[in-house]
Amino acid sequence: MALIKLLPRCLFQVAFSISFLLGPTLGGGLKVRFYDKSCPQAEAIVRDTVNSYFSQDPTVSAPLLRLHFHDCFVRGCDGSVLLNSTRTNKAEKDAKPNQTLDGFYVIDAAKAALEKACPATVSCADILALAARDAVSLATGFRKKMNLTKENLYQVETGRRDGFLSKATEAEAHLPSSDDNIAILKANFASKGLDSRDLAILSGAHAIGTSHCFSFEKRLHHHYNGRGGADPTVHPRYAVELLEKCRPGNSTVVEMVPGSSTTFDTKYYELVARRRGLFHSDAALMEDEVTRGYVYSSLKLPASSFFVDFGESMIKMGKAGVLTGKSGEIRKNCALVNH
Ligand code: HEM
Ligand SMILES: *[C@@H]1O[C@H](CO)[C@@H](O)[C@H](O)[C@H]1NC(C)=O
Ligand SMILES: *[C@@H]1O[C@H](CO)[C@@H](O)[C@H](O)[C@H]1NC(C)=O
Ligand SMILES: *[C@@H]1O[C@H](CO)[C@@H](O)[C@H](O)[C@H]1NC(C)=O
Repeated sequence: MALIKLLPRCLFQVAFSISFLLGPTLGGGLKVRFYDKSCPQAEAIVRDTVNSYFSQDPTVSAPLLRLHFHDCFVRGCDGSVLLNSTRTNKAEKDAKPNQTLDGFYVIDAAKAALEKACPATVSCADILALAARDAVSLATGFRKKMNLTKENLYQVETGRRDGFLSKATEAEAHLPSSDDNIAILKANFASKGLDSRDLAILSGAHAIGTSHCFSFEKRLHHHYNGRGGADPTVHPRYAVELLEKCRPGNSTVVEMVPGSSTTFDTKYYELVARRRGLFHSDAALMEDEVTRGYVYSSLKLPASSFFVDFGESMIKMGKAGVLTGKSGEIRKNCALVNH
C-alpha cells in the first residue's frame, strides 16, 4: 500500500531528474555521493560530528538547518554565510538579519575533522548542506527510535565549491523578513528557483527552533499596521500568550512550536492553520491557494509524506546559485578565503 502510494512520486522524480540532465539548469554539476572517490568518509564524518553535538544538546539541529538556508538565499549555497568580516568588508554574519545565527562551531568541527582525513577536498558549502540534512534527520527521532545511525531523511547532492565574497548588504537585501507578505515571499523564493509549494514545505522548518521576541513582537502590538490594531493574522488569544512571554526588557526566546521545538514533525502546520504561527510570514501561508492547500493537506497526511516533500524541496534549495567544477575554491578554514 505504502509502496503503491510512493510509486507515482518515484516516477515523477525520475522524470524530474531527466529534465535536469537536459538543458541548462540551476545547480548543474551537483550529484549524490560526489565525494565517493575523493573522500569516501566525508558524509560519515559530518554525520558523526553532528551526532556528537546533538546527543549533548538536541537544540543544535535548528541553527544548523537555518544556516544552510541563510547560505543558499544570499549569493547561492557557496558557504558565504560562514565567512568572517575583514577590515574592509562587513560579511553576512554581521548583517542585521543574521539574527542570532548559531551552530558555526559544529561546521568548524566537521571541517577540522575533514581536513585531517582529506585535506582541501570537501567544501564548506557542502558541509552546511550535509549538516542541515543530518540535523533535521536526527530531529525526526528516526535514528534514536530505530537505533539507526545511517537513516537519512533524504540524499544530499554535493559538489558545491566555496565562494570568495560575503556581503552584509546582500544578506539584508535577500533574506526574507518575518513581516513579509505572501506576494513578497513568493517572489523571493521564485528568485531562488523555488515555487509556492516549496515555500509552504520549507517553511515547515519552523517546526524546530526558537525565535527571539524582537523578531516578531511588532505584530502583537496595537500600532502594527498604523490602523490601530495588532496583526489580524495572529489569533488574539495567542497574541496575549506571546506578549506575556515577551515582556519589555525580556530578551527571551520563544519556541516556534510550544513544547515541541526539538522535534521535526507537522505540528507547525497545525499551528499555522489555527493562526498560531509565530511570524507574519508563517501566517501568510494561509493567504495563497497553493500554500494554504499544503498547510491543510499536511494535517491529513502522515508526517512521512511531509518528510519526502521536505527532502525534495531542500534538494531544490541546495542548487541555488551553486559554484561547481573549477569555480570558487575549497576553503581550508570556513571563516576565511584561502589566499
Ligand atoms: C519563509 C521565510 C522565512 C522567514 C521570514 C524566516 C524568519 C526567521 C526568523 C525571524 C527566525 C528567528 C530568529 C531569531 O529571532 O532567533 C527564524 C528561525 C529559524 N528559521 Fe526561518 N525563516 C524563513 C524560512 C526558513 C527556511 C526556508 C528555513 C530552513 C529550511 C528556516 C529555518 C529556521 C530555523 C530552523 C529557525 C530556528 C533557529 C534557531 O532555533 O536557532 N527558516 N526564521
Ligand atoms: C571568525 O570570527 C569569530 C567571531 O568573531 C571568531 O571567534 C573566529 O576566531 C574567527 N575565525 C577566524 C578563522 O578568524
Ligand atoms: C550579527 O551581527 C551583529 C551586529 O550587527 C553582531 O553583534 C553579532 O555578533 C552577529 N552575529 C553573528 C552570529 O555573527
Ligand atoms: C521572561 O520570560 C520568561 C519566559 O516566559 C519568564 O520565565 C521570565 O520570568 C521573564 N522575565 C522577566 C524579567 O519578565
